[in-house]
Amino acid sequence: MPSKSEKNLAIAFAAESKAAARNSAFAQKAEKDGYPQIARLFRAVADAESVHARRYLLLMRGKIGATEENLEAAFQNEIKANVDEYPPLIKDAMEEGLKQVERAFSQSRDVENTHAELYKKAMNDMLSDRQTEYYVCQVCGYIAEDSPPENCPVCGAVKGKFKKVG
Ligand SMILES: [Fe+2]
Ligand SMILES: [Fe+2]
Repeated sequence: MPSKSEKNLAIAFAAESKAAARNSAFAQKAEKDGYPQIARLFRAVADAESVHARRYLLLMRGKIGATEENLEAAFQNEIKANVDEYPPLIKDAMEEGLKQVERAFSQSRDVENTHAELYKKAMNDMLSDRQTEYYVCQVCGYIAEDSPPENCPVCGAVKGKFKKVG
């Protein structure tokens, strides 16, 4: 693919992914503020932006690989975030005295490592018929299997902050 469009697809993928995340956050707030219809709209648009992002990803890669490869790629991405990407961000936040930002980055860094472990485990028992429910901490993104813990091991959030995702 010519390099301009290759770069533009990457830019559009990042922008649409961001828009999806932003709209989801707006939807949660609308729900809380008592506007369920507006919340539905934000969720619908968030989903539509995800459609755009997926489309660009497909165009960049030609196709999405097999699940074994995707597990390996997802695993590597988590390790990269944990080892390479978050540490300099944490350092900057620390130097600038931004405690909340530093905490958010540090917790994300720790959580990425636990995501990597979940992928590793999944790679090892891909063919087993183990059924697991996942519960995601809505504060830090830590994922618990089978049941939510009393407190999040990464950020300390209470059980009620875990959302079942499956
Ligand atoms: Fe992650
Ligand atoms: Fe947490």
